Amino acid sequence: MIRRDFLHTALGAAALAALPRASAASRAYIDLDPTRPGATISPLMHGHFIEHLGGVIYDGVWVGEDSRIPNVGGIRKALVDALKPLHPPVIRWPGGCFADSYNWRDGVGPRASRPTRTNFWMDVEGLAKQAGGPQKFEPNAFGTNEFMRLCRMTGAEPYFAGNVRSLPAKDFYEWIDYCNAPAGSTTLAKLREQTGDHDPFNVHFWGVGNESWGCGGEMTPEEYSTAFRRYTAWTPGMGVPLNFIASGPNGDEIEWTQRFFAALAAKNKDLVERVWGWALHYYCGTAGESPIEFSNDEWYELLAKANRMESIIERHWGALGINDPKHHVKLAVDEWGAWHNVGTEPHPAYIFAQQSSMRDALVSGLTLDTFQRHPEKVGMANAAQLINCLHGLFLAYEDKFTVTPNYHVFAMYAAHQGAAKVAAQIDTEFRSVAGQVPLPELSGSASIANKTLTLTLVNTRHDAQMERTIRLRGASAKSVKATILANSDLHAHNTFEAPRTVEPRSETLTASGAEFTVRIAPASVTKLEIELV
Ligand code: AHR
Repeated sequence: MIRRDFLHTALGAAALAALPRASAASRAYIDLDPTRPGATISPLMHGHFIEHLGGVIYDGVWVGEDSRIPNVGGIRKALVDALKPLHPPVIRWPGGCFADSYNWRDGVGPRASRPTRTNFWMDVEGLAKQAGGPQKFEPNAFGTNEFMRLCRMTGAEPYFAGNVRSLPAKDFYEWIDYCNAPAGSTTLAKLREQTGDHDPFNVHFWGVGNESWGCGGEMTPEEYSTAFRRYTAWTPGMGVPLNFIASGPNGDEIEWTQRFFAALAAKNKDLVERVWGWALHYYCGTAGESPIEFSNDEWYELLAKANRMESIIERHWGALGINDPKHHVKLAVDEWGAWHNVGTEPHPAYIFAQQSSMRDALVSGLTLDTFQRHPEKVGMANAAQLINCLHGLFLAYEDKFTVTPNYHVFAMYAAHQGAAKVAAQIDTEFRSVAGQVPLPELSGSASIANKTLTLTLVNTRHDAQMERTIRLRGASAKSVKATILANSDLHAHNTFEAPRTVEPRSETLTASGAEFTVRIAPASVTKLEIELV
């Protein structure tokens, strides 16, 4: 028996085909009312993250200007080309844990004279055994100007994560000066010009440390609250609005959120508004042997863990409301994704790099749909990490390169960026998964921009196609295009040798009017683009 739910979830992907209207009374529905648009879905929710970690920067992003690997100013060309259609809104850099050991001055000035430093991650298992290399000994070839180059090439906003654990506040102010001071105005603006950039970068997003409860300084929330005040007080604005992102909790650790804001408000309640974004990190982890070896039960286990994002967002939003009743502060989920066991990385030094299968594509769909159902709460989100790391969109090794299934989900979901949320009421059953909130069999999100209503759906059932009748309130469809990411093998993934094993297909449905029925393939992510009359 299908239950009606109003969780604002939506459809899943599959072999969608418009059906003649069924006459059975037990039809299952998805109701959409595009005449009542909600908050705007910030494009920043589709953000990315790159860290000086394993093969992310060196080889992943940066191959160098003299490389035989096709590059644009040292940046891997295949990456730039593949990113453009996603309209990447924002990229976070340089960490992660690396950020709190990074001195930005090491990465500016003539590249040949930049120092080599130990990398934060050098002692991690896998890397410790390596003789050397840029993963272990940071050459600083990729610094602020090179990162800005990547942002310019892809159209992304830069988001810098500042060092709070191992550099004084002065260095944070001076990094802002280096980036944002008008041309020729300060000594640091002149250094920026000598490094290749005359015009200021006008960087808005500044992270104040990273995981300050852990690798960012092992602070208490009260200690971090003091640090946040000191690092953000009297920062050089120079006419550029600075959006400070404070280091938030590890997953659902609500106490960190409550105590940080209580301490900030105790000093001065107006200080709360100095926080633009509250950086929440949630990795759904893993289930099974590896990203490509798991049972059917482990399929559901990982999806249910990913689905926890919804309750984490809601709980932390509630906690923020205690000291920020007008909700000035937004959630910035600036690290999220699956974190699988080692063994599928393209090179042993590329620590935390992992394969991504159809299961991870569904994690991406579930998570982006969750963000899109909460546009008033989520100001930014950054998948961790873009290339050669964890929940990546790309894998690369020397001249080999492939997109992962996650990439296709980001490409499909780009249609939601900047659109207005439309509440989707989806009929679904729920699956019980031990220790987790019940997992909807069908979930999703919807938005409208101009006359296009976009509905994205995740069918979590590994073994069942679904059929739903879509009812449009106050609107009528002129045409419907479906994009479907599905594969009969739950473990399917792309490799350097077979990079197109998982990729979406599109079809135009013979559907129109205020009510039409679609079929949604098992284990799939689907996008419906409904052109309204
Ligand atoms: O993304 C990998 C690491 O996970 C980041 O450096 C850190 O912030 C988190 O613990």
